[in-house]
Amino acid sequence: MPLKSANNLESARLLIRSVTEADLPSLIDVNGDDAVTQYLPYASWRGIEDARAWFARMNALQAAGGALQFVIIEKRGARAIGTCLLFRHEESSARAELGYVLGREHWGRGYMDEALRRLIDCAFGELGLRRLEAEVDPRNARSARVLTRLGFVHEGLLRERWLTRGVPCSVNIYGLLQREWRPP
Ligand SMILES: CC(C)(COP(=O)(O)OP(=O)(O)OC[C@H]1O[C@@H](n2cnc3c(N)ncnc32)[C@H](O)[C@@H]1OP(=O)(O)O)[C@@H](O)C(=O)NCCC(=O)NCCS
Repeated sequence: MPLKSANNLESARLLIRSVTEADLPSLIDVNGDDAVTQYLPYASWRGIEDARAWFARMNALQAAGGALQFVIIEKRGARAIGTCLLFRHEESSARAELGYVLGREHWGRGYMDEALRRLIDCAFGELGLRRLEAEVDPRNARSARVLTRLGFVHEGLLRERWLTRGVPCSVNIYGLLQREWRPP
């Protein structure tokens, strides 16, 4: 089945809900920071045009059932402080890729760990996925720690998989199976 729109997700400190156009100004603050995009295969957003183009691409992917894009919001606040998503959904294999980004000032608090535990629980539960994957630039040590803490296994190096600002970049591939997942 295509990835169906999941309900809003909630954890102790966070609300994880579908992205809307009203989130774009907050997401420019997140994705406009070179420290955030340093190890990602896209350039920092320069403004609302980049944000709108991303939003249109995500809407098209979601409408086709191939992705679910969420924003992460502190319960004590109102603004989106990051995003997490399931994408590259392969229905025939019940598999999808995990992606995530957090605003620089929110690193080191366990927010992404908390958000991803809820999302993974939903992916392996109500969405019925069997395997999750993540690709990570080998220099991105913070992201690797996020994945290994969640139980992802490093499965290999994909040679020159990304073009990061025009430069070929090999990436580590991580995988997590439904039967390995320990719900929060
Ligand atoms: C990858 C990224 C989300 C990791 O952020 P992070 O804050 O290190 O990750 P978490 O939110 O899971 O927080 C874990 C850290 O918070 C600390 N922490 C503090 N309070 C905590 C709490 N209450 N619960 C859990 N962890 C807590 C942990 O000790 C850990 O620090 P450590 O890794 O130095 O041991 C962030 O660096 C980022 O957005 N990078 C840019 C985008 C990116 O690279 N995305 C991934 C693409 S593959």
